[in-house]
Amino acid sequence: MRLFVLSLFLIASAARAESADGWFDGKDGAAAPAAAAAAKKAAEKKIEKPALADDDRLWVIIEAADKSARQAVVDAGVAIEGMSGSQVAGVASLKALQKLKDRGIRVIKQTSLRVISTEDFPTADSAYHNYAETEAELKAIAASAPELASVFSIGQSWQGRAISALRLNTTAKGTQASKKPGAVFMGTHHAREHISTEVPLLIAKWIVENRNRADVKKLLEDRDVYFIPIVNPDGAEYDIATGKYRWQRKNMRKNSDGSVGVDLNRNYDFRFGGPGASDDPDSDTYHGPSAFSEPESKAVKAFFEARSNLKTFISYHSFSELVLYPWGGADEPISDQRALKAYKAMAEKMAGWTGYTAQQSSDLYVATGDTCDWSWEKRKVFSFTIELTPASQWAGGFYPGAAVISSAVQKNLQPVLYLIGLADDPTRAADSN
Ligand code: ARG
Ligand code: ZN
Repeated sequence: MRLFVLSLFLIASAARAESADGWFDGKDGAAAPAAAAAAKKAAEKKIEKPALADDDRLWVIIEAADKSARQAVVDAGVAIEGMSGSQVAGVASLKALQKLKDRGIRVIKQTSLRVISTEDFPTADSAYHNYAETEAELKAIAASAPELASVFSIGQSWQGRAISALRLNTTAKGTQASKKPGAVFMGTHHAREHISTEVPLLIAKWIVENRNRADVKKLLEDRDVYFIPIVNPDGAEYDIATGKYRWQRKNMRKNSDGSVGVDLNRNYDFRFGGPGASDDPDSDTYHGPSAFSEPESKAVKAFFEARSNLKTFISYHSFSELVLYPWGGADEPISDQRALKAYKAMAEKMAGWTGYTAQQSSDLYVATGDTCDWSWEKRKVFSFTIELTPASQWAGGFYPGAAVISSAVQKNLQPVLYLIGLADDPTRAADSN
């Protein structure tokens, strides 16, 4: 989506409110004075703490009902770029923002300008969600079903972007504890693998839209489900920042040798620094200065460690059309025979639904420090890496185009529902064939 369209949806979402601790409360600010007050409070809070430290200009939505109100906005130093009903949109420096605040003018919404004015997908791929669009979609999904869904942040990237999680739980919201068996689905550890954002995001949307279907309703009753579509938001935004893909894989850490990025899927603390991971900062598979040196992988670690109810997990990557199970970091099977049998059965089931190929991760190549080896070894979560569509470089590689999104989502829906269902006791998959 381009700036113009994006501005419209920002205006459309402007009436919604965020609660003070940052997760969306699902109410419509225009209709609820409490939510409006919370929005005002959140806006005030953010004035002191901009989203991105290295860009002090912000895209703002401001309440301004008439010409004199608009003039007051302009007089504070804001460049008004658009109008809709009683609101205006424009660009403000932090100084201008402070002036608005001092003069009692209500800022409804503020977003880093850099994120929305320059960074976007090539036009042909505009169906893919950039970071701002993903954030907005997660909030919209939660708002559509506040009885089931909530959004919260598991941590921040190097550049200060929130790593957002959408949670589905009929009783617990946000970061509230739950004893219900849990499943988690993550995308875009690797920046250029944008299809791996779309799959968990749109599957979450499908589930929420179909929440009243008898089978879906029953499935969700006693489950705690999380979707984290972008683990590496800085890299994903960098990849599309020029409107042309940059083939970025890593995050955006500034390395000591002047190169950029750590491979987040080599930064986890199991067999860290072993085969298949590079100690050269310039390499695409650079494992980082130490295990969990990166805020993004640290956030994932903390997310798992705070939730011992999590039992099943998919980390989406692309491409190759594979369903991979541990180990990835050693050419040997996991030692727990019953778990291995369950893993194989689950992988085969998911391969059947997707048409992908099931195999042990290290059969592809041995690579150490990946997410799933860690989450299996340290958390005993049944963990799969799914390499999404396409099958090969010749079929589009990392950039297969927008046409593949809906079939990728469709194929991967059943595996998600299956792993949610199995979360009470994944090892029972070992008995199923
Ligand atoms: N393409 C993924 C990566 O390079 C594959 C990860 C699977 N793990 C493995 N050890 N092969 O991170
Ligand atoms: Zn990947």
